[in-house]
Amino acid sequence: MALERVGFVGWRGMVGSVLRERMSAEGDWAGLEPEFFSTSQVGLPAPDVGVAAPPLGDAYEISRLARQQVIVSCQGGDYTKQVLPELRAGGWQGYWIDAASAKRMDDDSVIVLDPVNRDHIDRAIAEGVRNYVGGNCTVSLMLMALDGLFREGWVEWLSSMTYQAASGAGARGMRELVEQMRVIGDDARKLLDDSAASALEIDREVSESVRGAGLPTENFGAPLAASLIPWIDSPMEGGETREEWKAFAEGNKILASGTPIAMDGFCVRIGAMRCHSQAFTIKLRSDVPLDEIEGVLADANDWVSLVPNDKDSTLERLSPAAVSGTLDVPVGRVRKLRMGPDYLGAFSVGDQLLWGAAEPLRRILGILREHEG
Ligand code: HSE
Repeated sequence: MALERVGFVGWRGMVGSVLRERMSAEGDWAGLEPEFFSTSQVGLPAPDVGVAAPPLGDAYEISRLARQQVIVSCQGGDYTKQVLPELRAGGWQGYWIDAASAKRMDDDSVIVLDPVNRDHIDRAIAEGVRNYVGGNCTVSLMLMALDGLFREGWVEWLSSMTYQAASGAGARGMRELVEQMRVIGDDARKLLDDSAASALEIDREVSESVRGAGLPTENFGAPLAASLIPWIDSPMEGGETREEWKAFAEGNKILASGTPIAMDGFCVRIGAMRCHSQAFTIKLRSDVPLDEIEGVLADANDWVSLVPNDKDSTLERLSPAAVSGTLDVPVGRVRKLRMGPDYLGAFSVGDQLLWGAAEPLRRILGILREHEG
């Protein structure tokens, strides 16, 4: 039976908004009977997506949610933990598509990243799996970037050092970063306007601003602009943060690896807006020639591209400034490392809200519609 009745929860937030934009850009609303749910504005008009939709439903009204064939939630893990068990307990057999991490590691869910694990997704649909969850942004962007290496089975282990954007901490994080930049810029304005002022004077001023009480840090708990924060999410037992732990846990679940691949590193928040970057140290299983590696990386999927390892190409194409707002996942700085011929280095960038969040959700909705169509 065609999937038409699709409910959206958390559609107003950042990931939900990017998802709606992408669905509009791809013409995905055609043939849908969407229903938008809200936790606070029940009865108000639905957003205009070009097809008819009733006024906003109550996001906690189980009977109304249960009329949907698919529910797409960008509302967060607490909502998932409360509502999904109630829906399932009432016998709801629909598809649950989720941006939150709450159900990611459960056995009855698949982490979706179809350019990488489409086979796994197709098998799961055939087997009747009903829960499809978007992966952690850093993990999804890593797997998109290194898709070719994993496909070939060349990776023995890898370490990723991340440079994660403010958007990963939500809309408030993005705002706080720019507010911090404003405070720093305002404080330094006089010195910047004075061509005789030395860099050390400017630095003193900036350091005072960064450490001063005037810098807003409610969200990050520390200065991010003109600084960085080498801690993302909660602590885990082994000394790693939850964000760092996800590379191994989620990465191997997405890859459906028979033997898990060791993946670990440090996750660092930096002052980019919405692109996560990562530097990789990769231990290959053998000494694969560099040109072969480059070919495999470049051809792995439609979004990854190989950036030549030179300064001009790197500055032009391999940065948050270049990639932000696009679906491109450039991989560059690819070279063999000094540790030996089976050690590879690479650097990649990807938009945290697109391939890191909304795009895999948009695409799994399309895949489910194809299957059921
Ligand atoms: N946890 C990620 C971050 C974002 O803090 O950057 C969501 O996957």
